[in-house]
Amino acid sequence: MPETRALPTARIAPSILSADFACLGQEVRDVAAAGADWIHFDVMDNHYVPNLTIGPMVCEAIRPHVDLPIDVHLMVEPVDSLVPMFAKAGANIITFHPEASRHVDRTLALIRDQGCQAGLVFNPATPLEWLNHVMDKVDVILLMSVNPGYGGQSFIPATLAKLRQARTLIDRHVQSGGQPIALEVDGGVKIDNIREIYAAGADTFVAGSAIFGQPDYTDVIRRMREQIALVQA
Ligand code: DX5
Ligand code: ZN
Repeated sequence: MPETRALPTARIAPSILSADFACLGQEVRDVAAAGADWIHFDVMDNHYVPNLTIGPMVCEAIRPHVDLPIDVHLMVEPVDSLVPMFAKAGANIITFHPEASRHVDRTLALIRDQGCQAGLVFNPATPLEWLNHVMDKVDVILLMSVNPGYGGQSFIPATLAKLRQARTLIDRHVQSGGQPIALEVDGGVKIDNIREIYAAGADTFVAGSAIFGQPDYTDVIRRMREQIALVQA
């Protein structure tokens, strides 16, 4: 099927959830050298999701190791108290799940007030209607293509239709004078499915196990970009 819309530049955001936590500084330097665009930083609290990971202190520790934007994905409840802590720790982008915030509009504003880009994250069963009154306040829309909590899960195919829906919303918003919004996808992204995910409208690809599970990060990222380029051909 011929592509008619203008194709966005793709960004690869390795998720350090699958990195070797015993040497995170080296791991983020290695993915940066391998051609990553963002560092995806998964924060889990054993309350909003059934797992426990890393917080602002770890963000601060990796900050000097890379110049790339650090994309903090908050899977926590409540959200607001962590926002200034991550901004201070060097985060560039902070996304959160709307169900986890009592006041979504306020949390989005708080993230921007702290000097970061703000984003909403949609679980597989979370409708895009949460965007209805806040499109002007989001810099990133992140669609989960797995249920949040763990790396290494399989991509949920229904995400493709949801990506097309989100792409339409973003394009309409930009055409009517709105700010640009990144469309990020998270969960089960691999070399063998990134092409169709890009074709569905995503422009930013989180990949954890697909990258950190392999010996050669450069090779994985190069092969991902090759697949994406096939859509542009
Ligand atoms: C899941 C996390 C993801 C995870 C993706 O809750 O938000 O960022 O690291 O891992 P993969 O790419 O292995 O599915
Ligand atoms: Zn994530």
